[in-house]
Amino acid sequence: MVVFFFLLLFPALLSPGQVLQTALMGTPAISITFTPVLDGTQTPRLNVALLLHTPVTSPNNFLIELPIAIGNVPTQAYNTTNPILAEDDLGNLELMFKDDPERQLRRWHATRPITGNVRLAFVAIPRVVDNDTPIGPRLDLRAFGNGLLGAGLSVLPLPPDVDSTYRIGLCWDLSHTARKTIFASSFGENDCEELNDKLQALQMLVFAVGNSLQRHPAKSTSPDFALFYFRQSGHIVPFDVPTLSHYIRSLHTHFSAFFTPSIREPYHVFLRPSPRAFGGAGFKRGFMLEYHEKVDVTTLELQDLLAHEIVHNWPIMDFSQNESLSAIDAKAENTWFNEGIATYYATFLPFRLGLESREDFVAKVNRALQAYYTSPARHLSNVEAAKVMWANADAQRLPYFRSTVYFIRLAYLLHEERAVSGRGATLDGLVRKLLDRRRHGLQHDLTIWQSLVSHELGAGIAQQEYAAMTSGGPDMLVPQARSLEYVDLQLGAKQQEELQLGFATSSFNSHIITDLLPDSRAQEARIREGDQIVEAKTMYWQVADDLGRNMTLLLRHTGHADVFNISYWPRAKQKLQSWQVLDRKPT
Ligand SMILES: *[C@@H]1O[C@H](CO)[C@@H](O)[C@H](O)[C@H]1NC(C)=O
Ligand SMILES: *[C@@H]1O[C@H](CO)[C@@H](O)[C@H](O)[C@H]1NC(C)=O
Ligand SMILES: *[C@@H]1O[C@H](CO)[C@@H](O)[C@H](O)[C@H]1NC(C)=O
Ligand SMILES: *[C@@H]1O[C@H](CO)[C@@H](O)[C@H](O)[C@H]1NC(C)=O
Ligand SMILES: [Zn+2]
Repeated sequence: MVVFFFLLLFPALLSPGQVLQTALMGTPAISITFTPVLDGTQTPRLNVALLLHTPVTSPNNFLIELPIAIGNVPTQAYNTTNPILAEDDLGNLELMFKDDPERQLRRWHATRPITGNVRLAFVAIPRVVDNDTPIGPRLDLRAFGNGLLGAGLSVLPLPPDVDSTYRIGLCWDLSHTARKTIFASSFGENDCEELNDKLQALQMLVFAVGNSLQRHPAKSTSPDFALFYFRQSGHIVPFDVPTLSHYIRSLHTHFSAFFTPSIREPYHVFLRPSPRAFGGAGFKRGFMLEYHEKVDVTTLELQDLLAHEIVHNWPIMDFSQNESLSAIDAKAENTWFNEGIATYYATFLPFRLGLESREDFVAKVNRALQAYYTSPARHLSNVEAAKVMWANADAQRLPYFRSTVYFIRLAYLLHEERAVSGRGATLDGLVRKLLDRRRHGLQHDLTIWQSLVSHELGAGIAQQEYAAMTSGGPDMLVPQARSLEYVDLQLGAKQQEELQLGFATSSFNSHIITDLLPDSRAQEARIREGDQIVEAKTMYWQVADDLGRNMTLLLRHTGHADVFNISYWPRAKQKLQSWQVLDRKPT
């Protein structure tokens, strides 16, 4: 039985010629075969065969590891019920696993010394979600009709040296799928793709397969860019796909020319329906957009989200490989930089590149600024925010916007420095330097970022700016009034209403209003403690990001049969000190 199982799972690994060939030249090699089982008779699943060429086990003797959960989203977390099977050149290899609760990692080691190549086989099973599933990072494997969509990070256990460059092979075997099944990943659309990249590229892999999977535009007209979505009966994609695809392609082309002018890479976007959410997740060479047709999305919100996810393709700081840092510190550092820089460029770049009207641009700057100053979490430090980010929606969003102010400040300090000394770098220049280091496999963490900033502004200012952004506390980070003069805008202080939903954000998960705040606008809008949330037409982040946005819900009072719509302004009655674009630039 076991042997039979092995033969079934290892079909593509019997002749690992291409991997051996390159591995002999010194680069470690890994080769993966995805065999989706989508024959319509059983639950969709993904069989994975993974070959590690003569793996060097880490100092702690771990062979492979996989996060147990990413934020509040469980991964595949293979266990004794759904084990990872292994063999090496000597035959069957028994693996044992042990969890590292602090780093939220499951780690596997071999129970005897390894000889030669290791072949692993395991089965990834799609996560079942419903309307009650809390919203979290969009990395889990899910089934859509007779299809699958997922990300490497939650599916692939990998050797721990994800920062090392590997010869990576990814192949697809469609022998267990229905006719007309197509597949795609952020690596490409060929049966086998080979890539020389950091192992991390496999974590940042996003993929989809299915016979209802659609590609837009057709491959013949657009070999390098595509939008993929599932067409299922009785299910509506609430976007005009050609328009959306065209828009994303144009943004990507322009952003790509801005960040890496000399490189052209394929880019693949994946849509996935959700039981209730609207949002995105950025990957390498692609992103995922999640939608629910009942969530009301404005054009500007959608455009802003798309720009944010596309920017994630480039400027990345990575601190997670630094062993001297606790997991939570590394997460806090990665989050403020990566989300902050994505928010910053999503706000500024479309306008700077001539892709957005001035009116939309000003609206986006104002939205981003108020999102920080009116956030109930505004005084948390980045580490405090990282600790609670998946239980506290305000804490999750805080680093996005406080860091945006940090980058606005930094861009202006660099500008002033250049005005005085007649030379020096721009913020774009520093970001490109970090990006170049990442591309060349060099360290690209906070230490490097701070040394880049210090080189321009001195260590004192670099440290002061960083501390003011990261430490939270009562003092808010404020932009310089003239910091946006280069786009002909003046900033000024303004009183604005604090975000106040008026009930617990966890009510969106339980679908029952709890902790209703007396005298809040929510209460004045007829919401009662214990009301059932039949439908949320607005996501919490939409009202958090936009001072002018109402929360719209379809509710039912307890004991009543009929449902009713409400729309209210989820803001407190007291105002806070905020910063906004002044209506008119003073002369
Ligand atoms: C293995 O994981 C599955 C899915 O999370 C779970 O249902 C099962 O109970 C686990 N088995 C063991 C022995 O922990
Ligand atoms: C790890 O982080 C510490 C603290 O920030 C820093 O001093 C050190 O240089 C980093 N080490 C590496 C290898 O990045
Ligand atoms: C709620 O509003 C929607 C439009 O947003 C409308 O289609 C629906 O009929 C309304 N429901 C009730 C019960 O008023
Ligand atoms: C927004 O909510 C306020 C009450 O808080 C209400 O007066 C207003 O009509 C709502 N606007 C829309 C567009 O529904
Ligand atoms: Zn993001």
